[in-house]
Amino acid sequence: MILLTGAAGFIGFHVTQKLLAAGHAVIGIDNLNAYYDVNLKKARLRQLQDNKNFTFREINIADRTAMESLAAQNPNITHIVHLAAQAGVRYSLENPYAYAESNLTGQLVMLETARHLKSLKNFIYASSSSVYGNSSTAPFALSERCDEPVSLYAATKRSGEMLAYSYASLYGFPATGLRFFTVYGPWGRPDMAYFSFTKNITEGKPIKVFNNGDLRRDFTYIDDIVAGILAAIDRPAAGHRLFNLGNHKPVQLMDFIATIENATGKKAIMDLSSMAAGDVYETCADITESQKILGFEPKVTLDTGIPIFVDWYKSYFG
Ligand SMILES: NC(=O)c1ccc[n+]([C@@H]2O[C@H](COP(=O)([O-])OP(=O)(O)OC[C@H]3O[C@@H](n4cnc5c(N)ncnc54)[C@H](O)[C@@H]3O)[C@@H](O)[C@H]2O)c1
Repeated sequence: MILLTGAAGFIGFHVTQKLLAAGHAVIGIDNLNAYYDVNLKKARLRQLQDNKNFTFREINIADRTAMESLAAQNPNITHIVHLAAQAGVRYSLENPYAYAESNLTGQLVMLETARHLKSLKNFIYASSSSVYGNSSTAPFALSERCDEPVSLYAATKRSGEMLAYSYASLYGFPATGLRFFTVYGPWGRPDMAYFSFTKNITEGKPIKVFNNGDLRRDFTYIDDIVAGILAAIDRPAAGHRLFNLGNHKPVQLMDFIATIENATGKKAIMDLSSMAAGDVYETCADITESQKILGFEPKVTLDTGIPIFVDWYKSYFG
């Protein structure tokens, strides 16, 4: 039995679909918060709920009493895939306490849950490329210290890694943190640039282009991320371990916009603006360890992945 948090979220939904297709039983947790369109979260859940091996529980992971009773009712949980979090760099300047609740208290509650589950074989959790900040050297290697976060979101994600490290060493269970690099694809997140750019370009509205377009992002297609997560589930660490899951081929923001223009068949109206607070200039994953230990080999290029996203966008929104 697999316990997966953030099941109504973008990545959690895709991982759950793959786990169910492989015949696993999954208990999905999500608090369905309104950070972005709750209808999209519910629509993802509807895709999962037809499967008899899927159970959904609406729970806030920071609610330790609710999590304790869930664990007590399901002592046969063998794996935890913990993907629930308050995501987004810019929103962390607006609503800092949401990050403390989900990413600090929530992470601690999930680690406590893991610690007390007698049958647990592996604990996998989501971290982020944002932990590398602006002072790491590209490609970002696991040996970077990552102690100069430039946003509260990054600070909570790095803290989450340290909490996991301490629990894995203190209580001797395997824990793996996965640093995802700008994940995109169908059923994606409306707060992310690829989604809002597609929406605005389609509707003939301007898009806000930060740092006058001089940014580089290592865009990673959802199926590649899911493959990396599944590989990590099957390979428990001896103690705590981290991996980068990124495409390893950063793209200039202007090229990224051109790819969306091609896929939508429309020209973008660009509102050029300065660097946003909390943003980093570049992300680029060093995936040497992930290749070696997880067999992680990203396959989908932006030229293939963006048209798949745009097709989904058109069919979903009509
Ligand atoms: N998408 C990316 O590009 C990306 C990049 C780096 C890291 N990540 C990390 O990957 C994970 C999944 O991200 P995503 O893109 O699917 O985001 P998402 O927002 O679509 O999914 C997260 C889900 O967690 C739920 N959630 C949030 N706080 C909760 C709480 N306290 N209790 C229960 N549920 C809660 C939300 O309702 C949401 O459905 C997150 O940990 C995120 O920080 C994502």
